[in-house]
Amino acid sequence: MIPLRDTQHYLRPGIIELTWGHPDLALFPTAELAHAATLALTRTDRAALCYGADQGPGSLIAQLCAWLARHEAHAPQPDQVFIAGGLSQGLDLLCTLYTSAGDPILVDAPTYHLALRVFRDHRLDLTPVAGDEEGLLPDALADLLSGLRRQGRVPRFLYLVPNFCNPTGATLSLSRRQAVAALAQEFDLMILEDDVYRHLWYDAPPPPPLSDLAPAHVIRLGSFSKLLAPGLRVGWLIAAPEIVERCARCGLMDSGGGISHFAGHVVAAFMELGLLDAHVEKLRAAYRSRRDLFCAALARELPPDCRWQTPAGGFFVWVRLPHGMDSAALLPDAEAAGVSYVPGTRFYADRQSSSHMRLAFTLLPPEELVEGARRLGAVLKTATA
Ligand SMILES: Cc1ncc(COP(=O)(O)O)c(C=O)c1O
Repeated sequence: MIPLRDTQHYLRPGIIELTWGHPDLALFPTAELAHAATLALTRTDRAALCYGADQGPGSLIAQLCAWLARHEAHAPQPDQVFIAGGLSQGLDLLCTLYTSAGDPILVDAPTYHLALRVFRDHRLDLTPVAGDEEGLLPDALADLLSGLRRQGRVPRFLYLVPNFCNPTGATLSLSRRQAVAALAQEFDLMILEDDVYRHLWYDAPPPPPLSDLAPAHVIRLGSFSKLLAPGLRVGWLIAAPEIVERCARCGLMDSGGGISHFAGHVVAAFMELGLLDAHVEKLRAAYRSRRDLFCAALARELPPDCRWQTPAGGFFVWVRLPHGMDSAALLPDAEAAGVSYVPGTRFYADRQSSSHMRLAFTLLPPEELVEGARRLGAVLKTATA
């Protein structure tokens, strides 16, 4: 039986959970969201409580387009935006509308493990595309696409997280983006660009999205989950108008109206009040200092032959263990020592490679991060002794 809980994450007494890739609850802008909710609820047209427009609230789409225009080189037009119930629901909807069971899709490896779960729900045939510390390898993608073409198979999608990837923290370089975009055009491949961490950069903004490089071949997905609060369940996808129209005209919207409609109105009001930029800036400062503190603690505490790269944004550090160590096998010892993480196997479509562990540094306060690194270091040193 599933235990009744109020939130998805749970903190076990005595265990420092480096597991959860969630925002810090203390950083939720609760007072500002209350103000925005009041504004949304007291508008004379009562729009926030009606069945929603199928594409999502027009006010939110207008605010989002204006916000992206201020922060990115190419802003979408309103007919290129569909409001989803978080990025996850957008992904699921695209699978519902554009795939059938058994269709091949390509996923970067490693990649966001819960996107793999969504794809598995749709019984898609997942093929991993190899990557390295700079993300997906275009040559590996080219080989796979040629191989599939020889078999007469056409992948429905390539899914990847090009910025501050979950789990690796890696960011795809501009030259690799250009190569991937060129391959998408050559092979008529549709890319699902999961861009959930783009605006949470700590050193410098990432390179332009793939959607700028091959607009007809990219559906770019974003979310307010990390920028505001995941409980709102408000995300978006940016795509060609016919794809947006297909999403908006599906049966689910026709029957129920736009997804997360009330929360979408609250987010629109929050943006209308001009609160988003300052909030994102605050998140960047808080998470940047946690990243720095946590990476310094890892450098002090982990055995010297552990390897990781400092993420330039996002939520995660991806640690490679010394040769022969298995992060899945080590987890019970780590939890017995009061620290937890997600083993690397979870992030591979073929469940390969347990040589890594994913550590999240955003949910917990600084002192717990430091203590978590200390406990992890002690476990790893015992295991290597
Ligand atoms: C790469 C990636 N995509 C999507 C999500 C989930 O997004 P949402 O909360 O908008 O469904 C997450 C959350 O951890 C994530 O890391």
